[in-house]
Amino acid sequence: TEQKATNVFWHEGEVTRADRNKLLGQKGATIWFTGLSGSGKSTVAVALEKALHAQGRLVYRLDGDNVRLGINKNLGFSAEDRAENIRRIGEIAKLFVDAGVIVLSSFVSPYRADRDTVRELHVAGEMDFIEAYVDVPLAEAEKRDPKGLYKKARAGQIKNFTGIDDPYEAPTAPEIVLPSHEMSLEDEVEAMLALLKDRDILP
Ligand code: PPS
Repeated sequence: TEQKATNVFWHEGEVTRADRNKLLGQKGATIWFTGLSGSGKSTVAVALEKALHAQGRLVYRLDGDNVRLGINKNLGFSAEDRAENIRRIGEIAKLFVDAGVIVLSSFVSPYRADRDTVRELHVAGEMDFIEAYVDVPLAEAEKRDPKGLYKKARAGQIKNFTGIDDPYEAPTAPEIVLPSHEMSLEDEVEAMLALLKDRDILP
């Protein structure tokens, strides 16, 4: 989105990100879960949040339905609205990372370009960005159908439903792939923790 306001500048205070990181004894990062509705993004984020918290890490989850009930309540599911949804979430994640928090975000985020924009935002801000692709076949997500939305989409009661009559563009170079239909939740959390260690996000 273009910059509408002119003559606005980022204002540095006297306390830096490095100061905050030192205070917290950690550095912030964004872990971005992407995948079909019902793939298990929230499930793994919730479990990882619990594990990180237990290790004494300050961690915060940004989740689809929650954000869409609040800051993004004016957005629907057109490609344009999804892009704006993801853009705002990316900016919010960046603020949290700047504050020193480990952010776990779980959104379908079906468009590669939107996810790449969020990644670039982080890279430009010298922040860690980990894309975790929760990869299950559509048939599996549809079989789970925890909210009955696939059924409604098949019946034509929901339009532009991801995987049914709207695209999902799988990541081409995610940092990690989690096939949640072939992996236990415990193993997914272990794999995430190992990756975060490997990337020096965790000690
Ligand atoms: S997006 O595409 O990233 O902006 O979507 P997100 O904010 O993650 O919201 C997806 C959740 O909203 C429900 N829902 C839909 N998903 C996809 N397509 C359509 N049309 C749609 N309508 C409602 C759905 O329950 C998604 O939740 P999860 O938790 O992913 O199942």
